[in-house]
Amino acid sequence: MQIKAMLSKRIEQTFAVLGLQGDALVQAASRPEFGDYQANGVMAAAKREKKNPREVAQQVIDHLDLDGIASQIEIAGPGFLNFTLDPIWLATAAPGQVSQATPPATIVVDYSAPNLAKEMHVGHLRSTIIGDSIVRVLEAQGHQVLRQNHVGDWGTQFGMLLEYLQESGESSDQLADLETFYRSAKVRFDEDEAFQNRARKAVVDLQSGAEYAALQWQKFIAISMSHCQDIYDRLGVTLSPEHIAGESRYNEALPGVIKALENKGLLQESDGAQCVFLDEFKTKKGDILPVIVQKSDGGYLYATTDLAAIAYRTSELDADRILYCTDARQNLHFKQIFAVARLAGFNANQSSLEHLPFGTMLGADGKPFKTRSGDIIKLADLLREAENRALRLVQEKNPGLELQAARKLSKIIGIGAVKYGDLCKNRTSDYVFDWDQMISFEGNTSPYLQYAYTRVRSIFSRGEIEVATLPSEAIAVDEPERRLAVTLAALNDTLEQVAAEGYPHYLCTYLYELATRFTQFYEACPILKSTGEVKTRRLVLARQTADTLQLGLSLLGIDTPERM
Ligand code: ARG
Repeated sequence: MQIKAMLSKRIEQTFAVLGLQGDALVQAASRPEFGDYQANGVMAAAKREKKNPREVAQQVIDHLDLDGIASQIEIAGPGFLNFTLDPIWLATAAPGQVSQATPPATIVVDYSAPNLAKEMHVGHLRSTIIGDSIVRVLEAQGHQVLRQNHVGDWGTQFGMLLEYLQESGESSDQLADLETFYRSAKVRFDEDEAFQNRARKAVVDLQSGAEYAALQWQKFIAISMSHCQDIYDRLGVTLSPEHIAGESRYNEALPGVIKALENKGLLQESDGAQCVFLDEFKTKKGDILPVIVQKSDGGYLYATTDLAAIAYRTSELDADRILYCTDARQNLHFKQIFAVARLAGFNANQSSLEHLPFGTMLGADGKPFKTRSGDIIKLADLLREAENRALRLVQEKNPGLELQAARKLSKIIGIGAVKYGDLCKNRTSDYVFDWDQMISFEGNTSPYLQYAYTRVRSIFSRGEIEVATLPSEAIAVDEPERRLAVTLAALNDTLEQVAAEGYPHYLCTYLYELATRFTQFYEACPILKSTGEVKTRRLVLARQTADTLQLGLSLLGIDTPERM
């Protein structure tokens, strides 16, 4: 149940009955004395009709039908409405269950998308885990989610590599070697014009389907992708080979993109290149920034491919929304291609095109996160370090634990810590990557929440409670119980916010608040020491808390151990 949406709808319907207009502006109450939810929209709606807001507020209450959701509605200050949820209604609000979207939408999520022939590095982490968490939330809501891993598997770098291998006679099926070859190829490319030309020709050969080139290229892609898949598996990310839809996939559609732009009169030549000039994109000095779609040598660009991808996703995949998870440095790129797609009619079905940008991971020095020697950090190394740090922690806490069990646990804790450390930050800001903070058992961290989960679960084992025999609902009575029930019921408001805006940190904040609420409840309301009905309803609330913590963490892509 999405409480916010439901209250808004009912209040706005009442507005309409009263001849008023406007948004109900419902939000969780900012302070307990304001009830559980507040609606702040009455004042503006009344003002528009030049009516007294407190009187209008009273009329809204008189006409509002909430079907038992609130036990109390109060007018506060100049015309705020404060709602206290009804405990009987709360009991049936089905905490721990995700409300299903009606109707479900088809949503393309474009995420991870590393450039191949290189090992995955920290720069790919954010897109991969933010995208995966959004995918999980949307899927849980019943949407049809189409993952599109738009890998960079095409273009000059592959021509360089092909030409270099041809020239040097080297070969290998190790990714590490490919990287070395790539570096040498780059040196050759920069120093020797003849090599440069041959490398460009290799791309053309590749495009026109020449056999040697195609075979070699497929080999690179296979090696590179199997490495990416290893990383995805270790990270517990839901991407698999069937989600690959790389740049090369659009190769054949690119001439058509240029043709369509030309037909629409959008194409202009500039220094031999084909460009689209749009007034809305200007430099600070006022010069128009062109969107280049074809270079003077005939080669296509990142933007061209993305235009073809929009056309495919909107018409063939029939997407209602297309979400792009990349870092904020691509803001202009996406603004430009969205605008061009609109003008050129590539977005045939009016899909909602949404770029979800994120900031940079920084080191302690405030500069982009690197190794001590200034190299880019490989994801494989980062994950290994996360697991090792977690292992030390686990062994410190449970010296008796067998190594194998300790390793299993440290994987869950270490990977969870890295993911949560990222997901809990507002994605648009840069953040400092801090091992000690993210792997700590205190504060808004994954280990803290995982631990909170195991603590709730331990109540059942200590009390020898058969969880399955507990009733499914409980009516909260004491205030700490009621506050916990209200927080439990807010899960779907939170998920909807994540789904609509693409900010997983809302879910993190929610889970942290839930854990805090539970602690307050647990301190005020003894569970195993109580008896009868009181004990049962508190156990039910505890079970709902454990379920919601587990569900919420799983939607962030984080596992929950049964013991820590
Ligand atoms: N491969 C690109 C990069 O590493 C990201 C691709 C994002 N998706 C897209 N449709 N442009 O920057």
